[in-house]
Amino acid sequence: MAFYVTTPIYYVNAAPHLGHAYTAIAADILARHHRQRGEDVFFLTGTDEHGEPVARVAEAEGITPKELADRNARRFLDLMPRINVSNDFFIRTSDPRHKARVQEVMQRIHDNGHVYKGLYEGWYCPKCADFKSESEIGPGNTCLIHTGTQLDREHEENWFFRLSAFEGRLRDLYASQPGWIAPRTRYNEALSFIEGGLQDVSLSRSKLTWGVEVPWDPAHVFYVWFDALLNYYTALAFARDGEDLTARFWPATYHLIGKDILKFHAVFWPAMLMAADIELPRRELIHGYLLMRDASGAETKMSKSLGNVLDPFEVMDRFGTDALRYYCFREVSFGQDGGVSTTTFGERYESELANEYGNLASRTLAMIGRYRDGTVPHAEVDRELAPDFESLIEEVCALLDRAEITQALERIWQRVRRLNRYVEERAPWVAAKDPAGAGELDTTLRSLAEGLRTVTVLLHPYLPETAAKLLDALGAPELALDGARFGAAPGGGTTRTVPQLFPKLA
Ligand code: MSP
Repeated sequence: MAFYVTTPIYYVNAAPHLGHAYTAIAADILARHHRQRGEDVFFLTGTDEHGEPVARVAEAEGITPKELADRNARRFLDLMPRINVSNDFFIRTSDPRHKARVQEVMQRIHDNGHVYKGLYEGWYCPKCADFKSESEIGPGNTCLIHTGTQLDREHEENWFFRLSAFEGRLRDLYASQPGWIAPRTRYNEALSFIEGGLQDVSLSRSKLTWGVEVPWDPAHVFYVWFDALLNYYTALAFARDGEDLTARFWPATYHLIGKDILKFHAVFWPAMLMAADIELPRRELIHGYLLMRDASGAETKMSKSLGNVLDPFEVMDRFGTDALRYYCFREVSFGQDGGVSTTTFGERYESELANEYGNLASRTLAMIGRYRDGTVPHAEVDRELAPDFESLIEEVCALLDRAEITQALERIWQRVRRLNRYVEERAPWVAAKDPAGAGELDTTLRSLAEGLRTVTVLLHPYLPETAAKLLDALGAPELALDGARFGAAPGGGTTRTVPQLFPKLA
């Protein structure tokens, strides 16, 4: 089965911050999980390099837009392995192969009769690279997203896309597929855009040169969003040398996006695809914002324009990559907005990763080492513990099928806590002192090894480095979900102890 997941492509007018890492990690969790299910996975991320904001920043720095894009795209490229994101390809929209494919698709939209020339006048936010409708304009003609940014009154002769002609088909899409946008609140919001009535949108810019040339009118470049959205489709044609992956992976299974770019993905994108006779993606998943919580408890959106950015590199240097991945999806329920702070970061690291999970792992490995010479006993798993693990894999799969990333983690973590209680209940160190307790000790140690293995296989998408280390130490490196069932690995495996997985902070 094919599974194709995408992140938004990141603007190169600034350096990456935790908000960008967040979307990429979410997509990575889904991609890794589906690989564990044995599916044919393709995971795309990349950079959005054209448009007004990039041209403006480059001009201010006295360099060409391409130089700026090269420099900043490198930062996003470097971020991905640093946060352990296992993307299969990284698209850059300045890639000539992307540009050629954009021209091809847009030409088709033109030839299908969905484009006309007209005069555009409107309020334009240079930071959003978007014209604003009445309801999106703040006091004094400012941008509601980039608070305080003055909107410009723009007039120009442009090519227009007949978005209004797709209103009926979009309504049908939303009526027939209520799960097309998740969660439900975002579906309702998207539907309200459509129900508010759709106006045609300007598709090209004549003032700008940093973009993809309009093939039927080379004095214009495409408005950046048309070029950017198409990345999800174009990349498949050239991501693998000599192989076009479009038939294998299109339509995409999931587009993952932040709530700020809902309108483009929920309205423009399906209409563009309809206009080009291309199948629609199966689903779009919309997440909320990570907000920075300051000492007073107040929360603000983390953004480059507000300058209150938590640097993912600094966080990882201090806590490790897995801790960052874990924290983001544990602290903030995926889909909702939620506050993050270095304080709660430290608390979760200490109490959950170091104490609950790290200690469970060290104790289990140490006891198997000490009491059974590093061999998992050949014993049945404990019948009292088994029922608590019985449906775990199915629960996690069902939740991740709905991209309930935080809920799935919670279910796994309930089992980590169950295993800690189990150690206390069985007190293997007591049985170890009594020769008559050998059978019970075998059962306890095998059950702990199996419990730890099962939760760790399921935690792999969240904590890839830790899972690899720990499964290796348990002598069972296999990641496939098929073999992850509690009790599925036979006894007899060789274990070894490992240094603290989440060392206490100095
Ligand atoms: N280039 C466009 C997307 C084009 S997709 C065809 C863009 N880029 S962005 O770099 O500004 O944002 C990329 C993603 O990062 C968005 O989904 C956005 O929501 C997400 N985040 C940026 N800051 C964020 C937080 N503070 N919290 C969570 N995600 C946020 O938009």
